[in-house]
Order: sequence, then structure tokens, then C-alpha cells
Amino acid sequence: TYVVTENCIRCKYMDCVEVCPVDCFYVGENMLVINPDECIDCGVCEPECPAEAIFPDSDSRAAAWAEKNATFAASWPNITRKGTAPADADEWNNKPGKAELFSP
Ligand code: SF4
Ligand code: F3S
Repeated sequence: TYVVTENCIRCKYMDCVEVCPVDCFYVGENMLVINPDECIDCGVCEPECPAEAIFPDSDSRAAAWAEKNATFAASWPNITRKGTAPADADEWNNKPGKAELFSP
């Protein structure tokens, strides 16, 4: 499976949603997650994310976020259409310490 990680927080560009063939993204207050039971490992979302927040679970950068993706995909709503990214998304891109802003 692929995993959405920390840099999605407050960037939430949603380009990933547009390309996913199985609509397995779920949306929280300030980030998205991928449902690992639905992701077919096609990999097309990874290069589409302007924040480079998506990694395969084989990548060490995904490790800290894999469980959160599985957990919150079960309770957050499905998202199938790209919405409007936060107005200040570019300012948050690559800001350190965003993990603390995760909102369940
Ligand atoms: Fe969707 Fe493919 Fe990305 Fe999995 S790897 S979330 S199936 S676009
Ligand atoms: Fe997040 Fe990147 Fe998608 S910032 S919403 S994972 S395009």
C-alpha cells in the first residue's frame, strides 16, 4: 500500500484524489489518508503530490504514518473529487513539526 505522511498536513493539495483509480483516499480536517485495504499499489498518486507526502509502505519515511492511515481511513469520509487546497498551503509545504498538528 501507499501511505500519506506528515507533509500533507495543512498542504492538502488533493491532486492525489484526482488520479487514484480506486478512490481510496479519506479526508480529515487538515490531511488525507489512504485506506491500505483498498489501495492497489499502482503508485500513480506518488509523483502527483506537490508536497511529496506519499510514499510506498516499503519506504522508511512511511513507517510513522502507516498505522494512522489505516486507522483514520476507517472513520474519515471518502473523498473522490479534488477540492480547493488551503489558501496558505504553499507556506506550510515542508514546514517542520507538522506532525503535532495532526487532527484526528
Ligand atoms: Fe490510489 Fe494507486 Fe495511490 Fe494506491 S497507489 S492510493 S491505488 S493512486
Ligand atoms: Fe496531501 Fe499531497 Fe494529496 S498534499 S492531499 S497527499 S496531493
